[in-house]
Amino acid sequence: MIFTVAIDGPAAAGKGTISKAVAAHFDFAHLDTGLLYRAVGAKVNDGMDAVHAAETLDPSDLNRDDLRTSDAAQAASKVAVNPDVRAALVDFQRNFATREGGAVLDGRDIGTVICPDADVKLFVTASAACRADRRYKELAGKGQDVTLEGVLVDVIARDKRDSERAEAPMIVANDATLIDTSDMSIEQAVAAAINAVDRIRTQS
Ligand code: DC
Repeated sequence: MIFTVAIDGPAAAGKGTISKAVAAHFDFAHLDTGLLYRAVGAKVNDGMDAVHAAETLDPSDLNRDDLRTSDAAQAASKVAVNPDVRAALVDFQRNFATREGGAVLDGRDIGTVICPDADVKLFVTASAACRADRRYKELAGKGQDVTLEGVLVDVIARDKRDSERAEAPMIVANDATLIDTSDMSIEQAVAAAINAVDRIRTQS
């Protein structure tokens, strides 16, 4: 059985939590595609050429423990504007999406570019203030030296870069279900996503 769930949306809208929960609920595999760009960004920070880093990316690179920092996020967003970097990462993502047993991929361009024929497309969003507040609590909770204002500036800069780039910008696919998590608990957001997937899965 091949069944692909595409979950796109801006940083800190709850995509990651929702994707993991959907994958666990349906027993599908999960790929956080942001990690691919973060790993390329980290290698660029180490001095490597971005396209070479993308072409030689190894799954073990996704386990680096410095990929969850705001530096890595900004570096990821910068390398992600490069069409050759994006092209080098397409096959890995498409192979993952069509693996036997079902797959959930979360990112920015999954429903529009990577898997335009995905069985289910969700676009998970929330207000910038709300996302900055969540990301601030997450990073501060991990002991990172951040301020709420700084995180908000980063979130807005990343949204702008991700949605205004020429190649595969972050946009809502025509056939995506929109989930705005601004006023939802995690449980409510997860339930909305599972319901949306279930509706399609029981039809197919
Ligand atoms: O989802 P994330 O915050 O880990 O993503 C980090 C950056 O990677 C994001 O700002 C833009 C880029 N990205 C992308 O361009 N396309 C994707 N499918 C996933 C992430």
